[in-house]
Order: sequence, then C-alpha cells, then structure tokens
Amino acid sequence: RTPRHVAIVMDGNGRWAKQRHRPRAFGHRAGVQAVRKVIEACIRAKVEVLTLFAFSSENWSRPEGEVRHLMDLFLRALRKEARELAGNGVRLRFIGERNRFSPELRAAMAESESAALNEVRLTVNIAVNYGGRWDIVNAAQALARAARAGLIDPDAIDQTSFEQHLSLAPLPEPDLFIRTGGEARISNFLLWHLAYTELYFTPVLWPDFDETAFRAALNEFAQRERRFGKTSAQVSGKPEAANV
Ligand code: FPP
Repeated sequence: RTPRHVAIVMDGNGRWAKQRHRPRAFGHRAGVQAVRKVIEACIRAKVEVLTLFAFSSENWSRPEGEVRHLMDLFLRALRKEARELAGNGVRLRFIGERNRFSPELRAAMAESESAALNEVRLTVNIAVNYGGRWDIVNAAQALARAARAGLIDPDAIDQTSFEQHLSLAPLPEPDLFIRTGGEARISNFLLWHLAYTELYFTPVLWPDFDETAFRAALNEFAQRERRFGKTSAQVSGKPEAANV
C-alpha cells in the first residue's frame, strides 16, 4: 500500500549545519536539495500529493537574518526549479497567508502555480506562513460570512462543507505524516487533516532525508493497520469474534 498523500515537517536543518560547524543558512540550502530528492522519490513511488511545511506562522520570530535568508532561498529555488518541475509533471501549490511576503515572492508563487502542465504526476503543496489553527479559523470566517449573506444555512454546515473551505481542498487528506529531526510534535501543521493520518517520526535530520529514508517511512506505513475507528476484524474482512 502506497500513501496517496504524504505530509512532511522538514526539521533539523540548523542542527545538521551545526554538526558541520557551518551557519544555519548552509543547512537550509542543503534542505532545498532534500526537497528535490523527496519530490523525485514521490514520483517514483507513485505518491499523488506531497505537502511540505516550509515556513510556519511562528517562524517569523526567528532572527531577522535567518528569515531574510529563507525568503531569499524560496525565491531563488522557485525561479530556478519551477519550470523544470512543471516539465516533469509536478504541479506546485502554496498554502498559507501570503500577504506578508514580498511582491516578488508572491508573484513567483502565483506564476509557478499557473504553469501549464501536460500531465500531473505529483501535486506539491508548499505550506508557507501556514498554521493549522489559522486554516480552521479562516474556514470558519468564510462560512460565517456566507451565512451572514444568507447564502447558507448555519444548521446545514457539516464536516464535508467545512473541509471545502480549508486550504488543501479538494485534495485528499494525508495518509502519512512524516516529521524529521527527532521531535514528536505536529507543531500546528495540518490540524484538521491529520485526524486519521498515520504519524511517523524519525531522528534523521532533514538534509539527510534521502530516498532510502523515505522508503523506510513508506514501508512502515504499509505495515500499519488503518482502522478509522473500526475493529481489526472489520477492517480485514474476517468474521467477527462472537465474544462482544
Ligand atoms: C527546519 O529546520 C526548517 C525550516 C524552518 C525551513 C525549511 C525550509 C527548507 C528545507 C527549504 C525548503 C525550500 C523549499 C523551496 C520548499 P530548523 O531550522 O528548525 O532546524 P533545527 O531544528 O535543527 O534548528
């Protein structure tokens, strides 16, 4: 079983650089190379959607120089890679609040999102200035506005209609969540969408996360039993034991 959608918190760039007595920026640059490798690995493994947490709403509080470097890195990576990605059937999308980014970066994001593709082999969502709570509040506001305008009945709001206002819509929710760098936290990533996602935490630092490490995560996923609240017997289709 291959996950259709994999979501990743890419953590550990700073520590990877520190181990090499280099500045954090060196780790972030190596992180971009790891992004490239994982995109290629997803295409080979036939994963349909990859969502990467590149910059959280909380990351603005990092030292000014590091934030500036990350913005510069995003812009250069987009300008350099977007065309090639589109040529290889990779559709790029950005989720998160964009209005804090520079006009150049916003323009590069919009341009890469609208690139024409012959076929879509992989959709890559890059979460920038994103927070899971922000996403949920944003959806609630959109529905409240629609209700105020008389367009919807508040009593008719259900999980399906709510979900349609979240930033990943209409993509399927992640089957597998990976966090590199050794911490076992979700850190305000896709809070709504991770309800039934299999969680995988690895000590591998993001710049070292290569195809072998990715395959290890896919293998672990293939061995997990996803029950969605049902019993093991129900999921496997075996007859239920009588002793309720
Ligand atoms: C976390 O490592 C990493 C980030 C906050 C930045 C992630 C960005 C990249 C990997 C570049 C991605 C580029 C594109 C184009 C999507 P950390 O700095 O928190 O590491 P630490 O926990 O070891 O300090």
